[in-house]
Amino acid sequence: MGDQSVVSLANDSQSGSPVPTPTLRWEEPPEGPVLILLDQTRLPVEEVELVCTDVQALVDAIRTLAVRGAPVLGLAGAYGIALAAARGFDVAEAERQLASARPTAVNLGYGVRRAAAAYRSALDTTADPQRAAQAALAEARALHAEDAAASERMASHGLALLKKLVPGGGLRILTHCNTGALVSGGAGTAFAVAHAAHREGLLRRLWVDETRPLLQGARLTAYEAARADMTYTLLADNAAGSLFADGAVDAVLIGADRIAADGSVANKVGSYPLAVLAHHHNVPFVVVAPTTTVDLATADGASIEVEQRPGHEVTEIAHPIAEAGSGIVLAPLGTQAYNPAFDITPAPLVTALVTENGVASPVTAATLAALALSDTR
Ligand code: MRU
Repeated sequence: MGDQSVVSLANDSQSGSPVPTPTLRWEEPPEGPVLILLDQTRLPVEEVELVCTDVQALVDAIRTLAVRGAPVLGLAGAYGIALAAARGFDVAEAERQLASARPTAVNLGYGVRRAAAAYRSALDTTADPQRAAQAALAEARALHAEDAAASERMASHGLALLKKLVPGGGLRILTHCNTGALVSGGAGTAFAVAHAAHREGLLRRLWVDETRPLLQGARLTAYEAARADMTYTLLADNAAGSLFADGAVDAVLIGADRIAADGSVANKVGSYPLAVLAHHHNVPFVVVAPTTTVDLATADGASIEVEQRPGHEVTEIAHPIAEAGSGIVLAPLGTQAYNPAFDITPAPLVTALVTENGVASPVTAATLAALALSDTR
């Protein structure tokens, strides 16, 4: 276990903002630099911050999902390298530990590699570890700013697309997992689009899948929607079929953890069944993700490593995420559980991919490569 401490936030009232404090931030108190995370395992019951003073603490926070969601994992990885460098830890070892903390979200390794490359290049030119640590921090901050800007652009492209796909407003959007300000340096991905629709008075209802087994929808998306004064309704994941059958969904909006070169989308388990339902009911299925989530080096969906999580997350109910044996038992002792954290949706089931660079529709290897490569940063 690394060096973590927790700080309770003053009881923040509903403010119209989806989160009470940035999901992650860098601070430099006299005792040395720290990375502060809004602890997502404690939401919505408690608003508590987790202070990481070393890399192991951050790796623990990533593994236990105290910080989670693809874009913010990239930021955590980059700041983790800055933390290692500033505190005199072995940066190559930090790079290895952080990049392998979770396998599926491509952003994690991307953020780690960017900050580590900035560190190494500054070290090569200056031979000064302090200057190199500053370069790693500057790179993490640059990625943070880029991610916030990407959120804004995705919200705007996504809203324009929704207006075309579902003219007339009164939108009933179904979403899965959590894709708001908790996962980003800005307003998020899919949730940011729904939030933009809400701000324009176009959102009639946000249907929030609870997202078994770790309940990111119930715990986190409902929390963000409530804080943002959106009209939302929570449903058990397996109620989604009835919702489509009732004609109560105008569009599905989800995020992504990794998008392969053939357009296959890895996202929270339960996304693929929604894509099949949406296809059957002729409802647009829209993926919203920054180009940092597009991984042209991974050829196809079958090549994406899907994280397998412990069975007790399925055989027990625990809140917040807890050790095996500490939750309410749901299944006979010794029951084996199948618990992939993500599933893969093939590109033909995706109506459109919204990125900060624009929209790919249909999603093909060619439209995807054109978007991912048109990054003008
Ligand atoms: O296991 P998690 O909670 O990290 O999974 C997160 C998701 O699946 C999100 O939908 C994805 O990262 C996109 S977030 C913009």
